[in-house]
Amino acid sequence: MSAFLGIDVGTSGTKTLAIDAKGKILAAAMETYPCHAPKPLWSEQDPEDWWRATVGSVRKVVSRAKLKPADVKSIGLSGQMHGSVFLDKADKVIRRAILWNDQRTAAECAEIERRAGGRAELIRMVANPALTGFTAPKILWLRNHEPRNFDMTRKILLPKDDIRRRLTGEYATEVSDASGMLLLDVAKRGWSKELLSALELDIDFFAKCYESEDVTGRLTPAAAKLLGLSTACVVVGGAGDCAAGAVGNGIVSRGVLSTSIGTSGVMFVHSDEVKIDPQGRVHTFCHAVRGKWHIMGVNLSAGGSLQWFRNELCKTEHAIAKKMKREIYDLLAEEAAAVKSGSEGLFFLPYLSGERTPHADPLARGCFVGLTLAHTRGHLVRAIMEGVTYSMRDSLAIIEELGVPVKQIRASGGGSRSPLWRRIQADVFGRKVVTVESEEGAAYGAALLAAVGAGAFKDVREACAATVRVASETAADRKAVKYYDRAFPIYRQLYRSLQEDFKSIAALEK
Ligand code: XUL
Repeated sequence: MSAFLGIDVGTSGTKTLAIDAKGKILAAAMETYPCHAPKPLWSEQDPEDWWRATVGSVRKVVSRAKLKPADVKSIGLSGQMHGSVFLDKADKVIRRAILWNDQRTAAECAEIERRAGGRAELIRMVANPALTGFTAPKILWLRNHEPRNFDMTRKILLPKDDIRRRLTGEYATEVSDASGMLLLDVAKRGWSKELLSALELDIDFFAKCYESEDVTGRLTPAAAKLLGLSTACVVVGGAGDCAAGAVGNGIVSRGVLSTSIGTSGVMFVHSDEVKIDPQGRVHTFCHAVRGKWHIMGVNLSAGGSLQWFRNELCKTEHAIAKKMKREIYDLLAEEAAAVKSGSEGLFFLPYLSGERTPHADPLARGCFVGLTLAHTRGHLVRAIMEGVTYSMRDSLAIIEELGVPVKQIRASGGGSRSPLWRRIQADVFGRKVVTVESEEGAAYGAALLAAVGAGAFKDVREACAATVRVASETAADRKAVKYYDRAFPIYRQLYRSLQEDFKSIAALEK
């Protein structure tokens, strides 16, 4: 038999799954690891944890699906984007990787803009402005703050590409993930020599850049032995988790947009052309579809906001839910479902890790606004879901402003498994929201890319057409849509009203 593996190196854990040549899932496994926040605004992980989780989850999948080494023809990699793995000349990891939701690099973003000759010039070179989460500012941060570590650095890889190095011995990346380093000429799909030179960064730091379905190497004998696979197994480029998730949802042609609520919230739309927001509020990156692009807006604390609420404010309930053998999120959603649309005037700003789209403000903070004695925990939970969805509507509005058509919205990610959150999405966006059969997101998209790379499908579009099917539809409720249309401008105004206060709070904490 022929099987294809998708490995997604996520923020909460690494998920591996195996599919057959028809896209049917044979087995899946997930291994988790911690995230470290040694200082406010910092977010780091240990690449050794990613590798351990990769090996563990691949071995579980191979054993659960009873795969023989020769069955697995190819592997597709996906992963959290923007993270920086710094390697020395012996390929040793120099320090913990700095992640996509780390906010320490505001000064380096300003430095990049200055060195590039201004914001407009930077956007001309790499299609995007400098944002704290992107990789280039992290590299400059290392040079500015840990010069000894920077001097030891020989290679800088993205999270999934460090896994590729351990699997194949190759330094390789692909265009979708590389776009988020802020060093790629996104229009030309290659490293921007112009920006690298302005930043005084040597091109040799960076991996060779492929298209997502291209073969980038084969398993080394050591990796094949460790995983129970064969050295004939190839590893394809894969994609950043947003593009891989989009492939898993079939977002590979015009008019279809996906919403994804994981730790972050992502609004993702395919584009046949390079369309750039001159204000840089949404990202324009290469897609995992050969020669195509995508536009996306990213909210840093989407599912992460509800996870924070659960972890910090529902400890007892969590224990009770465990005893009842129920999911705490289901119990919280039941409480929220009993509350009317709009949470009776309670708003939540989901800026717990600062915000990317549309504000690009590392100092923004999370808030509940409008609390009264009448509000219950159910109101708080519903307000969180609504606030996160308003933040995603902000991205939708910009995408439509750029003239990109949105005819269908496909909801995905852990948050969209909640029927209530899907209903809130339909009502806040004011249109029908559908789900697709496979809910495995990025790992599934990565497995499809692996199957394309091994020749099981002609291209990514054919793979999606053969495997991705709509599973459910949630229509918008007219009355709720009317309410949310009135509430959304108030939500937007709240950030503007508080923006200066967020700065004062940050200064107070210095
Ligand atoms: C995308 C982004 C996040 C991470 C999360 O730009 O920063 O979605 O990729 O995994």
